[in-house]
Amino acid sequence: MPCDSPDWAALRRDEFPVAERWAYFDHAAVSPLPRSSAALLRSWLDDQEHNGVVHWPDWEAKLRVNRANAARLIHAHPDEIAFVNSTTQGIGLVAEGFPWREGESVVTAAEEYPSNVYPWMNLASRGVSLRLVPSRGGRVWIDDLVAACDGTTRVLTISHVEFSSGFRNDLDALGDFCRARGIAFFVDAIQGLGPLEIDVTRTPIDFLAADGHKWLLGPEGAGFCYVRREWIERLRPVGVGWHSVVGSYNAPDLDFTLKPSAERWEGGSFNMPGLQGFGASVALLLSVGPKAVSQRILDRAEAVREIARSAGWTVVGSTRPEDLSGIVALEKPGVDPNAVVRHLRERGVAAACRRARLRFSPHIYNDDDDLARLREALGGS
Ligand SMILES: Cc1ncc(COP(=O)(O)O)c(C=O)c1O
Repeated sequence: MPCDSPDWAALRRDEFPVAERWAYFDHAAVSPLPRSSAALLRSWLDDQEHNGVVHWPDWEAKLRVNRANAARLIHAHPDEIAFVNSTTQGIGLVAEGFPWREGESVVTAAEEYPSNVYPWMNLASRGVSLRLVPSRGGRVWIDDLVAACDGTTRVLTISHVEFSSGFRNDLDALGDFCRARGIAFFVDAIQGLGPLEIDVTRTPIDFLAADGHKWLLGPEGAGFCYVRREWIERLRPVGVGWHSVVGSYNAPDLDFTLKPSAERWEGGSFNMPGLQGFGASVALLLSVGPKAVSQRILDRAEAVREIARSAGWTVVGSTRPEDLSGIVALEKPGVDPNAVVRHLRERGVAAACRRARLRFSPHIYNDDDDLARLREALGGS
């Protein structure tokens, strides 16, 4: 059960050894592993080293729990979840499998991460065009996305949170628009899920993908793709293999009957260690409680904004509360953010530079000491 009021200090001490060395503010890049996830990974390694396949059914059973927990995160059904080895793979499954006709179009924001651009651009040879909508004033405008859609538009795809500006797109408004216009709605959730909650029973999202290595605190190369139930049969399944069919484990004969669930996209062997670590991290976040996790990250991000402003940095984009996320993007005229990242790192503070902006992305275990270290190190930048 999620805690009513989590003990953040205990969580930091017990689960985040990274904090012994770093004031770590780079979860929008790659997160450190919680202690319990690393321990599970080690036990998998040990088991694989000493027992090979013998205990494989136990690890497979854990995957079932992990699938259910991934579904719980977004209020989906486990049958709507396919494990993937990157957000990019999840986007590709939908882009390649969508029932396109020549002359149709996809709309997205120009500031999207390339993973949500190239898979759609790659459809040009099938006669499908991509419309990139420029941002204005460091943010994406719904009206601009809407204006880019016309009768040819079949998919609108957007990141919940833009990776370099931290701007939070309004999924409810975009989803409602898409639903009303018969446009399928894809969400790249890797920068949103964790700092922000998603409920697919409330928000009309058709497809969503997120790897676990950022805000979900998992290892790289293990995540999930959500396909709303009514789309499972409508997409052409790509990457089909032995695991895609109903008799995947013990059919004596070939029987090409695809699973009725999103598992049909899991054609071959799993990234077993990655998915075990992913599952342990998701379980940790669920035990804290998605609401508490979100509030804590947003609170930490606000504290970082305040520190940055007092050090003379300008926060990029909108500062309306409903547009904010776990990402804080900053600019300062005449200052090279890459040099600042190096300066901070020498002082034990981990941050990033993306698209010429200084980027901070705190998580639940960042405490006031981390913030004080940041204040001191940034003050001198
Ligand atoms: C918004 C967004 N989408 C996708 C990706 C890439 O994720 P993956 O490597 O899991 O495909 C990133 C990585 O930074 C990202 O920020």
